Amino acid sequence: MPNSQTSHIRINPNRLRADFDALSQFGATASGGVNRPAFSPAHLEMRRWFHEKARQAGLEILSDGAGNHSARLRCGPDGAKYLLMGSHLDSVPDGGRYDGALGVLAALEVLRTVQEQRLKLPYHLEAIDFTDEEGTLVSFLGSFAFCGLLTAADLEKPRGDPQALAEGLQRAGLTHESILAARRDPAQLAGYLELHVEQGSRMEKAGVQIGAVTHIAGIRFFRLTYTGSPGHGGTIPLEERRDAAWGASAFTLAVREIVMGGFPECFANVGRVEYRPGFFNTIPQQAELALEFRSPDPDQFDRLEQALFENAREQAQRFKLELNIEFIGKRDPARMDARIVSAVRESAAALGLSCTSIISRAGHDAQALATICPTGMIFIPSQGGLSHSPLEYTRWEDCVNGANVLLQTVLRCANLDLSS
Ligand code: GLV
Ligand code: MN
Ligand code: MN
Repeated sequence: MPNSQTSHIRINPNRLRADFDALSQFGATASGGVNRPAFSPAHLEMRRWFHEKARQAGLEILSDGAGNHSARLRCGPDGAKYLLMGSHLDSVPDGGRYDGALGVLAALEVLRTVQEQRLKLPYHLEAIDFTDEEGTLVSFLGSFAFCGLLTAADLEKPRGDPQALAEGLQRAGLTHESILAARRDPAQLAGYLELHVEQGSRMEKAGVQIGAVTHIAGIRFFRLTYTGSPGHGGTIPLEERRDAAWGASAFTLAVREIVMGGFPECFANVGRVEYRPGFFNTIPQQAELALEFRSPDPDQFDRLEQALFENAREQAQRFKLELNIEFIGKRDPARMDARIVSAVRESAAALGLSCTSIISRAGHDAQALATICPTGMIFIPSQGGLSHSPLEYTRWEDCVNGANVLLQTVLRCANLDLSS
């Protein structure tokens, strides 16, 4: 497989479109995007919608102790493993409609297509929606728990607001204990496939329809806190101040220069700065920065970390501040399974679609799954490279192409002995 009997099989684009449009209503914003942070009422509502759709299709439904939601189709022999497909239904605040949601819906559509065609595969299929991929609470909460990578410390010191995490868990009926017990036995998994929008502009610029992801860049995130002295913003001479905002600002600009100057494959972002006390006329005593940086290569990653923190300390010295650097979490760079990458390329070619090998600069649940089973990702172009924005957009025909490549890759994987 695919053979002459299955290579013509396609997903149902109208059904996928209807699902996509319905799903885009959950947490819809006036700006055309969606606001569905993990465990928000809109997020929980859409998860119920997903299970209801699966139930209507006659699929089995499942949720685990980390809140991961699945639909399952038994299309393999008794005792067969599950080939998992999916992504995430949560979004960043004021995010786009495609990021994550398309991958989950395409996975569900593949299950329904295989079911309708009564195909027998060497594995069962499972479409999964992983919890909190975007990290408004913990980051990769669901897929890390699923893969046994989540620690109690990740939950006790989340990268988001601990209160929001506690309230979200209560709304979802989950506990730290249930999350930490949600590990799935890797021996039950044949592999993992994820369809996603590129979230960059490389494919659009190259005019290519399908991306066969070969690697996913790693991410490290830290909280940096500069501490100085508060005081009257109108009376204390500038040269006597210990102004935390100056250290934070100088460091933020230096981040750009360090990355642009010496790390061409890397990215960094200071996504939030909070000044305390935070008044017009009070010198900020404290400035807390949310820093993350990314690299596809472990060596560059270490060198970048060193360069960033060296500069952070220099700014502390320059402005007579104290500096605390707190490690929050990391996602290691991941390599996709070479056999699945080839299967994606072959599926695209068989469908008459242009295809390129590509490194993912964004993080994905596939990064966690790659640590426990053969994993692959399929990218489709993002218009203007926009993502984490209500303006995120991918042409519908690209979405359908991606879903068909996902389907054909599932069929093609039947020829691979993924357990070896
Ligand atoms: C997830 O979208 C990430 O790349 O941070
Ligand atoms: Mn995503
Ligand atoms: Mn995202």
